[in-house]
Amino acid sequence: MKKIGFLGCGKIGGFLLNHVVSRKDSQAVFIQDPFFTAPSTPCPIIKQADPLLYQSADLIVESATSEVLKADISMILTYCDLLMFSVTAFSDENFEQEALDLCKRYDRQIYLPHGAILGLDGLYDAKSLLRSVRITTTKSPQSLGLPLQERTVVYEGSTREACRQFPRNVNVHATVALAGLGFDQTFSRIIADPIVTTNSHLIEAHGSGVNFTIQVASTASEGVTGTFTPVSACGSLERVLEERSSFSFV
Ligand SMILES: NC(=O)c1ccc[n+]([C@@H]2O[C@H](COP(=O)([O-])OP(=O)(O)OC[C@H]3O[C@@H](n4cnc5c(N)ncnc54)[C@H](O)[C@@H]3O)[C@@H](O)[C@H]2O)c1
Repeated sequence: MKKIGFLGCGKIGGFLLNHVVSRKDSQAVFIQDPFFTAPSTPCPIIKQADPLLYQSADLIVESATSEVLKADISMILTYCDLLMFSVTAFSDENFEQEALDLCKRYDRQIYLPHGAILGLDGLYDAKSLLRSVRITTTKSPQSLGLPLQERTVVYEGSTREACRQFPRNVNVHATVALAGLGFDQTFSRIIADPIVTTNSHLIEAHGSGVNFTIQVASTASEGVTGTFTPVSACGSLERVLEERSSFSFV
């Protein structure tokens, strides 16, 4: 029985919570979210990290914000493995080093979900061959929190700086950077387009004998997360929990 603590329980976390409740081999042991409300819940709700509850969990599923993740990383990795969605946190080099040190010290694992995109395994495998990786995200101005009336390129430059400027919107850029050439060598482009109804991502990776183009679009709804991510998050959680199904994609 895997015991799971939820850090943040909004769109992604709420979807995963329902998924965990429906399984027989895992259990939600707490929800840490100061703004979470529900008529009934399967476990205690807490407003801030509680060492006793963290000690009772095997895995923390983080889907809050990069700032919340940074604040609680020490508590998380002291007691648990981590499946995390606020990947832009890793654009902070000090945080990346702290997380890696904690993993080493406590023998912990950090799971990075593919989230809104596809193909991270291939990018990671091709890392030694890659020479250039670009990712372009197109979203509505509302999703980006910008009051724009026309299609506008709102950012072009390193993924590290994109993460600093748009921490809630470019988690997939951060994951691509971690899988491939890193935050300074990956090129990010962000476009705000008032007529789009999707969140779309174009990944272009080129190198020695390889050319990859991956395009993913998912219907946008309120907030920063499209239709695909909560569903893909359940697949990632299944793989973390090592449930065997007929096919295993490795
Ligand atoms: N990796 C990816 O592909 C990907 C895709 C979409 C979203 N994301 C990221 O995943 C995270 C969650 O996305 P979402 O759409 O579920 O967001 P959401 O806004 O629906 O949920 C976030 C939750 O965090 C809670 N929260 C706020 N402050 C908190 C605190 N101090 N402690 C604990 N909880 C707190 C909020 O109350 C909310 O319930 C965000 O960081 C988002 O940018 C990643």
